[in-house]
Amino acid sequence: MAALAIPFIPRALIQKISRRYIAGDSLADAIARVQTLNACGFSTTLDVLGETVLSMSEAEAMAGEYTKVLEAIRAHGLNTEISIKPSALGLLVDEAECERLVRQILKVAAADGNFACIDMEDVSCTQKEIDLFMRVEREHGNVGLALQAYLKRTYADTDRLLRKTSTVRICKGIYVEDRSHLVERASKDRAAINVHFMEHVSRCFKAGAFVGIATHDTALIDEILALVRREGVDRAKFEFQMLLGVCEPLRDTLLGMGFNVRVYVPYGKDWYGYSTRRIKENPSIAGHVIKAMLNLG
Ligand code: FDA
Repeated sequence: MAALAIPFIPRALIQKISRRYIAGDSLADAIARVQTLNACGFSTTLDVLGETVLSMSEAEAMAGEYTKVLEAIRAHGLNTEISIKPSALGLLVDEAECERLVRQILKVAAADGNFACIDMEDVSCTQKEIDLFMRVEREHGNVGLALQAYLKRTYADTDRLLRKTSTVRICKGIYVEDRSHLVERASKDRAAINVHFMEHVSRCFKAGAFVGIATHDTALIDEILALVRREGVDRAKFEFQMLLGVCEPLRDTLLGMGFNVRVYVPYGKDWYGYSTRRIKENPSIAGHVIKAMLNLG
């Protein structure tokens, strides 16, 4: 109910609730957060908030911000990669220009031995993002791609994409999609999506690809730990990935067990879309809304 009410919740309230999920407005805020996480033993991936631009000038501005991020990573010696959303780099405006900007970012990142993961967005972007990834990956080894377990097509996509040298992130998928694309008729059938998630992770292990296991789902993580033990998977071939502000005790536990854990750290002024997706996923959202309403102003 609370999730359905999100469009009617004042922006100031959304911003207040979502503070835990976002490092802050500025690159300086993001650097400070990454430094704290690095000091605790986590690696991170930095995301500049922003989605679907309507002009290439906005896309250029986003690419410029990523250049600043990469410069800051070098200057501060941070242990962080970057995550990029092609729609924010003009994918739906001009694919060729978007590719040029992605290559530009990858080139700057490569100069410091850094790496970028392409986030997977909604189905209007899926094919375009896979094509983009395949084109740039040929020349730039420092790029990975997120794949969504809730999509039927992910089996065929992993067949085409997975190699010993690939780096992929497996996540459940977050966008509200047309059901015909989803692996299960009931897209919210978490148990069923978990079966597909496990299958994709297992295929990554078999292919020898590096896999980022992006979930906070304890049942799923327990199954993955069992698989890792059973198959004797090398810890250097995977990492757990979690979002800033979500299930922090779980990420501490995994780190304490000696696994690599990467935290996804978003920052920037364009916080609304990202925040509403996080708030919808939060099981205690109704409580947070009421609490924030009482404390607002
Ligand atoms: P699930 O939604 O079942 O959550 C498991 C448990 O985690 C919940 O029961 C709850 O306890 C807790 N939890 C989850 N979200 C919470 C929240 N916001 N607040 C509080 N508790 C919460 N998606 C996508 O489509 N494209 C992408 O590129 C990415 N990239 C990405 C990177 C990383 C590092 C992560 C962790 C996730 C993504 N995602 C993503 C999002 C992903 O698809 C998915 O929507 C979320 O991770 C939530 O799914 P879980 O696997 O955590 O399971």
